[in-house]
Amino acid sequence: MLRTRNGRKPAAMNSRSLDPPPQQPESLSAETGTVAAAAPAPASTILDIDGLSLWYGEKRALTDVTLTVPKQQITAFIGPSGCGKSTLLRCINRLNDLLDVRIEGKVFFEGQDIYAPSIDVNALRKRIGMVFQKSNPFPKTIYENVAYGPRIHGVANKAQLDEIVERSLRRAALWDEVNDRLADIALGLSGGQQQRLCIARAIAVEPEVVLLDEPCSALDPVATARIEDLMQELKQDYTLVIVTHNMQQASRVSDNTAFMYLGELIEYGRTESLFLNPTKKQTEDYITGRFG
Ligand SMILES: Nc1ncnc2c1ncn2[C@@H]1O[C@H](COP(=O)(O)OP(=O)(O)OP(=O)(O)O)[C@@H](O)[C@H]1O
Ligand SMILES: [Mg+2]
Repeated sequence: MLRTRNGRKPAAMNSRSLDPPPQQPESLSAETGTVAAAAPAPASTILDIDGLSLWYGEKRALTDVTLTVPKQQITAFIGPSGCGKSTLLRCINRLNDLLDVRIEGKVFFEGQDIYAPSIDVNALRKRIGMVFQKSNPFPKTIYENVAYGPRIHGVANKAQLDEIVERSLRRAALWDEVNDRLADIALGLSGGQQQRLCIARAIAVEPEVVLLDEPCSALDPVATARIEDLMQELKQDYTLVIVTHNMQQASRVSDNTAFMYLGELIEYGRTESLFLNPTKKQTEDYITGRFG
């Protein structure tokens, strides 16, 4: 169980716009006198969600959510069931468009308003991919699952597709397990392999952001650990936004955590800060297991 540090002054990390991580001064090793660590570059913002509210018909599911997502980091949305995590995630690549929703507020991706009439939604979804809770490979071969996206975006050359398939499966840490069975139907893979295949499929079109909605909830601890390792690898190249019910997972893998409750963003900050020094009572109650 995660516990807060009682009695400590809360950290000033309740801002909804993340400040860049504190700059570490270059530290000199006492033994060698050499530079041990350079200051990390401040992260830039890739997604800027500004006053976002959403209604399903009459029912309000999000209330005035404002937060920024830093580039090439992992940002986790946590909170009890029904608090709007998936709804917020789906707003980021306009998957809610398919439903009867009303949206107020803005979502900016690299400074562009993604709900502007001029936005090409297919092009947006190529840049912001999605992996769902239940792995959903197409009933096609392993190869075709990964080649599908690049093909519909115009890659026709077989050698090029072969290369994309191999690269994506390698990045998704699946190549070694499937390279001799690419022509097999994907539904024969284990649950954890299917989820990594869905990640390979998402990254095959070279997105900039990958949204993952509870990607490990159907997996055992070993498969979960593989996906968590993979997320750490992927953040070298991509920005990841993950919804998880598992607070240990959020604290293990994410750089930033947003705690939501009843459609509102209650608290957002660097993950360590939020878990160790939550500034809101509701956050503390949730992460210490007192509700939800
Ligand atoms: N398609 C829909 N039509 C109507 N209401 C919806 C729809 N999808 C979600 N909701 C409602 O919106 C609210 C937020 O749902 P959402 O799925 O975003 O929650 P969540 O935090 O992801 O929950 P969980 O942890 O159970 O997945 C809930 O009250 C839910 O019933
Ligand atoms: Mg959900």
